[in-house]
Amino acid sequence: MSAPGPTIVALDGPSGVGKTTVAQRLAERLGLPYLETGAMYRAVGLEALDRGIDPDDAARLAKLAGELELTLEEDERGRVRVLLRGEPLDPRARTQEVAEITSRVSAHAGVRQTMVARQRQSAGRRGAVLEGRDIGTKVFPETPYKFFLDAPLKVRSERRLRQLRDAAGSEPDPRAVLAEVAARDERDAGRADSPLTMDSSYELVETGGRTVEEVVEAIVERVQAIRRGLAERSAPHG
Ligand code: DC
Repeated sequence: MSAPGPTIVALDGPSGVGKTTVAQRLAERLGLPYLETGAMYRAVGLEALDRGIDPDDAARLAKLAGELELTLEEDERGRVRVLLRGEPLDPRARTQEVAEITSRVSAHAGVRQTMVARQRQSAGRRGAVLEGRDIGTKVFPETPYKFFLDAPLKVRSERRLRQLRDAAGSEPDPRAVLAEVAARDERDAGRADSPLTMDSSYELVETGGRTVEEVVEAIVERVQAIRRGLAERSAPHG
């Protein structure tokens, strides 16, 4: 395992685990761009919803993903914004309805191929912190910096509940949110193409009961240690 070229940090894990906040802070700490790959899939999910495309129609969805005018544009803070037809994503992309459709839409290999190619193109230039489900298994399997964020279902569904409350200002039903989070994770982990999974090339990071700062600090330390290890191994001997 080596680290040629730009630094790629893969952060994978289930929904509600705190990946977005951790990935953004981590990217700032490491001076790398940040790419939220879930937003790309949500753009496809939203578009499928608006066009009335069946989330199980693999052929139409693959075509849609290929034709969709998605651009990835880095802002002044180093965050790569996902633009749909040149505009930021509609806030509806963050709703449970779109999350549910996106989880189904993203299961299709034809959709994933297009998104993965764009992710490699964007992050391959000068490195990035990428968060998603398949970054360390499929998008950049060669990177030595792979972290799998996890937390108990209850903790994740409570986090999701707070996000929904903040975003919509409404009071979602906690039991319904827990069931939706569980169902989505099961689908993301159970699909045939690029399932959410962790292997021994990842380091497991528990986020439950820890602050964002603690989690970020732990990952920064591990990235630096892995970097040192690689530098020592590639240094000339004697
Ligand atoms: O991270 P998120 O909750 O915004 O992701 C929305 C959905 O997109 C999620 O249910 C699974 C899918 N997704 C994926 O399949 N692969 C990724 N790299 C990122 C997200």
